[in-house]
Amino acid sequence: MREQSPVYYDEQHRLWNLFRYEDVVSTLADPATFSSHIMPPASAQDSEESFLSSWLKGDITKMDPPQHRHFRGLVSQAFTPRAIEQMAPRIHEITNTLLDGVAAKGEMEFVSDLAAPLPIIVIAELLGVPPEDRDRFKIWSNTLIDSSSVQPGDKATLNKVIPIFKEMFAYLQDFCQARREHPRNDLISHLTQVEFEGRMLNNDEILAFVTTLLVAGNITTTILLGNAIVCLNEHPDAAEAIKADPSLIPSMVEEVLRYRPPFTATMRLTTKEVTIQEVTIPERQMVITWLISANYDEQQFPDPEHFDIRRHPNRHQAFGHGIHFCIGAPLARLEARIALDILLKRFPSLQIQPGARQEAHASPFINGVKTLPV
Ligand code: HEM
Repeated sequence: MREQSPVYYDEQHRLWNLFRYEDVVSTLADPATFSSHIMPPASAQDSEESFLSSWLKGDITKMDPPQHRHFRGLVSQAFTPRAIEQMAPRIHEITNTLLDGVAAKGEMEFVSDLAAPLPIIVIAELLGVPPEDRDRFKIWSNTLIDSSSVQPGDKATLNKVIPIFKEMFAYLQDFCQARREHPRNDLISHLTQVEFEGRMLNNDEILAFVTTLLVAGNITTTILLGNAIVCLNEHPDAAEAIKADPSLIPSMVEEVLRYRPPFTATMRLTTKEVTIQEVTIPERQMVITWLISANYDEQQFPDPEHFDIRRHPNRHQAFGHGIHFCIGAPLARLEARIALDILLKRFPSLQIQPGARQEAHASPFINGVKTLPV
């Protein structure tokens, strides 16, 4: 597709697909032409689903400038590499505690034992959720992830998830209010104190951001960790090289992000007619930028099918590009580096169980497995 149909119109789904690295990057760098403000159809907003679509209005990933610039400026302070680096000792501790549980059990299902709980606990602590509420938080987080691919009109699933969301929103509303009155050293307290467009963020806006973090930050990191295990299993030479020299872990993590990116694509909406590779896309069309295809573009990555843990430079698109570049990238990288380092030291002969069932996520936009017995 990159060579013959780099701009491909899928008539059935009415979607324009972009496959080349240069087109993905230039699209994501141009929010004036390619908007992120993609909302559910008006009909969905009138129904019971309005409950879900209401938080989408405060979802940073759906914002365009200037609203996006202001909002991002406020929340990004909590995600600077320096702020995130301070979490390293806790990430070590959480990983070791989770692996103590595995050692005591004598067996490991990689996703449920380490890859899923680690990012959920880290985000819960970042937000300031107390340990006694962690289990409820985990249920909410998983429900959000499961429902992120619900189709409008899927009443059965909506009826199941909406009571859980109502419980979560009520909890977070009270939590925001409590932190607004008595701030502590956590992200929710921080968000209650900062100003946005000359005013304070209200509880609904904070709630929308927190919900976005739960969706955007949990499953992706879980999948990255699982994908790293899959890559190392497929490439025993790379696994041996890392065990011999753990300083290769950061560049290995980058190569996993390139080779098996957790999100395969992002969506944009054209605000005006635009021409790419001599193909004209009309105004108000949905465009898919295939991050996974950009990551395999021969023009950018020599020998892209080769899993090369020393690849340099490695300007992969797993975290996107431009104003919406993943705010959680420093956190995801830190978690992956620490967790994989400890894991390989404590369980150096770890391997995926031969013949074990690895159930893939159903969504074409999520690239990873739900279970990984090792
Ligand atoms: C945005 C991927 C981890 C929070 C994005 C985008 C991508 C991405 C591709 C851009 C979406 C777009 O342009 O439409 C990933 C991957 C991760 C990861 C692959 C892990 C390996 C995290 C974590 C957090 C997070 C740990 C937070 C704790 C966000 C947020 C945005 C975002 C809030 C929206 C930023 C904006 O719109 O300005 N992520 N992400 N992500 N990510 Fe991540």
